[in-house]
Amino acid sequence: MQNYIDAGLAPMKNTGAIRLYSQTDFEGMRRAGQLTARCLDEISDLVRPGVPTQVIDDFVYDFAIAHDALPATLNYRGYTKSTCTSLNHVVCHGIPNNKPMREGDIVNVDVTLILDGWHGDSSRMYPVGEIKRASERLIEVTYESLMRGIAEVRPGAHTGDIGAAIQEFAEGERCSVVRDFCGHGVGQLFHDAPNILHYGRRGEGVELKPGMIFTIEPMINLGRAGVKVLADGWTAVTRDRSLSAQFEHAVGVTHTGCEIFTLSPAGYTVPPYR
Ligand code: MF3
Ligand code: CO
Ligand code: CO
Repeated sequence: MQNYIDAGLAPMKNTGAIRLYSQTDFEGMRRAGQLTARCLDEISDLVRPGVPTQVIDDFVYDFAIAHDALPATLNYRGYTKSTCTSLNHVVCHGIPNNKPMREGDIVNVDVTLILDGWHGDSSRMYPVGEIKRASERLIEVTYESLMRGIAEVRPGAHTGDIGAAIQEFAEGERCSVVRDFCGHGVGQLFHDAPNILHYGRRGEGVELKPGMIFTIEPMINLGRAGVKVLADGWTAVTRDRSLSAQFEHAVGVTHTGCEIFTLSPAGYTVPPYR
């Protein structure tokens, strides 16, 4: 049985209980989410051939500091960067480095800015110069998978409805859904209950209630779903080295449906971002 708790009364650790947030809390998430989304908007111009992912990381650090925020990944469980930059067959948790990106690469940039204690967690895909049609298609399928998951979010629905919608669409497009990582409760904690699986069956999982806040962040592969983590302890790659893509939004359950906290102020959805 799932347990729900008033977020104002809950201890600041993941106890497995699902926090229900107030309208004021939603305002905090709106501000953090919009700051992260602006940061992701501005990254669009940075991503081109010859630029190393470390340049993106430096930009995010400086952007955070300039806006009285902090990058949540910095010193999180031993992680030492301000973003995750996941290139090509990297599924997630790619570590920024000084290797120049190359024409035809695709990269996910995952940013979480903490503003006034609230975590705005979102990620997008960026093309590096001209990319192949297959890469473009994977990016579009992944974005549409996220949006179909979000379309399920309303009171009375279940987390399994989100997973099922994502899985049905992605697999219908001959892609596969990564099983090893999931979305998560978010708010004053970075990673909280419940887990949001990106596959599953309708009606299963946790019932959604107004006030819940979580991320949806499907990772979709062109090849098989299998993943392994490299020796650095972070970088997750596809076992078959096929291309992988991911988009992430932070959303809140409202009385009538859902609010997306991390929508792009510039109106960016899928590339090209302009
Ligand atoms: N931002 C990632 C997420 O969407 C988490 C990254 S944790 C890190 O949940 F330590 F790898 F940075
Ligand atoms: Co997340
Ligand atoms: Co994220």
